[in-house]
Amino acid sequence: MMKLKELESCLQQVDAFEEPKILLEQYPTSPHIAACMLYTIQSTFDDIEGKLVADLGCGCGVLSIGAAMLDAGLCVGFDIDEDALDIFRRNAEEFEISNVDLVQCDLCSLEPDAYAKKFDTVIMNPPFGTKHNQGMDMKFLKAALTMAKTAVYSLHKTSTREHIQKKANDWGVKMEVIAELRYDLPASYKFHKKKSVSSYTLSHHSLRQYMFSSRYFKLY
Ligand SMILES: C[S@@+](CC[C@H](N)C(=O)[O-])C[C@H]1O[C@@H](n2cnc3c(N)ncnc32)[C@H](O)[C@@H]1O
Repeated sequence: MMKLKELESCLQQVDAFEEPKILLEQYPTSPHIAACMLYTIQSTFDDIEGKLVADLGCGCGVLSIGAAMLDAGLCVGFDIDEDALDIFRRNAEEFEISNVDLVQCDLCSLEPDAYAKKFDTVIMNPPFGTKHNQGMDMKFLKAALTMAKTAVYSLHKTSTREHIQKKANDWGVKMEVIAELRYDLPASYKFHKKKSVSSYTLSHHSLRQYMFSSRYFKLY
């Protein structure tokens, strides 16, 4: 398996959004967070190598490309935004990666059963679901749990942890926090009044073989 440091340095070369669309909450996952997350998912849970993986809200593809580098059988990225998907395609070409595929769609209006249990693992850094996008994080989570056969690994704001825990109980899935990392929002999101720092929690939740992990962000 590729080393963690090597994975992180490769992911540093993945191009991010050229003109991030605030309404779509287009902030990229940092190479450091992406590498730690993917490395943990493979080395601790064995949920990438040889697996069929979906990346919801894949953006420019840092998580998908990382999963592909860790020898996913195939990683399928889903995103609503054609501009982001163009950058994703370019990134995949530059890395000469062939075990990724793309689907352009609105994950909020996906037929509920269209991809039911079609993937082994779902990974994602969904929109936070704040401001105009209230509830978006939970819609992504619901879609992810429908699509995954085995596990969902997702990143969320710390402030939503209790809410997610409650929903997980309602849905009959077990949630476990795997890790917390501090996170700085990129400069493009400086409209936040306070400096935005976060802790991030990668967790796995399992019941009926589901697991999902969460990164949580906190505004101080
Ligand atoms: C926080 S960004 C994460 C991007 C990328 N996965 C990464 O980790 O760098 C969230 C992504 O969700 C996409 N998105 C937002 N709303 C969506 C929707 N309704 N359906 C599909 N994708 C959506 C955005 O275009 C954006 O690329």
